Amino acid sequence: MLLVDRLYTHFAYPRGTVGSLAGVIMARRRANTVRGRWVIDQLALASGSRVLEVGYGPGAVLDDVCRRTANGHVVGIDISPVMMRQAAHRNRSHAQAGLLELRIGDAAHLAPDLRDFDVIFGINVWQYWQDPATVIKDLGTRLRPGGRLALAYMRPPGCRLTHGQAATQLTTQFTAATFTHIATEWMQHKPPAVLVSGQRPATTVCDTASSTPNSKAVPPLPDPM
Ligand SMILES: C[S@@+](CC[C@H](N)C(=O)[O-])C[C@H]1O[C@@H](n2cnc3c(N)ncnc32)[C@H](O)[C@@H]1O
Repeated sequence: MLLVDRLYTHFAYPRGTVGSLAGVIMARRRANTVRGRWVIDQLALASGSRVLEVGYGPGAVLDDVCRRTANGHVVGIDISPVMMRQAAHRNRSHAQAGLLELRIGDAAHLAPDLRDFDVIFGINVWQYWQDPATVIKDLGTRLRPGGRLALAYMRPPGCRLTHGQAATQLTTQFTAATFTHIATEWMQHKPPAVLVSGQRPATTVCDTASSTPNSKAVPPLPDPM
């Protein structure tokens, strides 16, 4: 396998020296930094927010996220220990201040305490999930009612999926996961990027039932003859 092909495989799961190099490229590539800033602008983060970044990679946008959510709490999850080291070094002042917590883990198997977020976002990570529909559904349950999930895609080197195809697939998956206010934003750049976001309904039937412990189950309506 050519070195460049080996490098591409490391964008999905950076490991060892080549993975470390992939992290440096991700953090420094101009298209990535422009896209990262654009995504964070779209999130309209508020001070005091509780935010989860899935697949933080080298942690290039976390400084911006922490600054915009001053007095909030930012958590990051990534499967790669190599990326954890780069992201932790890059954002050490925020971690020391207790604002940022970086974890190693799989988006498909999140710990139960990762919940009640105002915003969950991921940049160029969704395409690597084996079962994205299930992960998106689970992420929805980890938002507070009214919270937003936002997933961005910009065709990475070595990947065939276009941003238009990604938008269609993401919208279908957000709809299946019962998100509301689903929106698609486009960034015209080389390559272009897309951000699909959706809101967890402010109050669902399940929330109402669980928040009123004495509520009785509603009997089914009689079958119209
Ligand atoms: C292409 S990189 C993008 C990194 C960063 N978001 C950026 O845009 O610079 C994908 C990242 O997602 C992580 N990743 C891939 N699959 C994951 C999963 N199932 N759970 C958590 N992280 C994952 C990889 O380790 C890698 O750091």
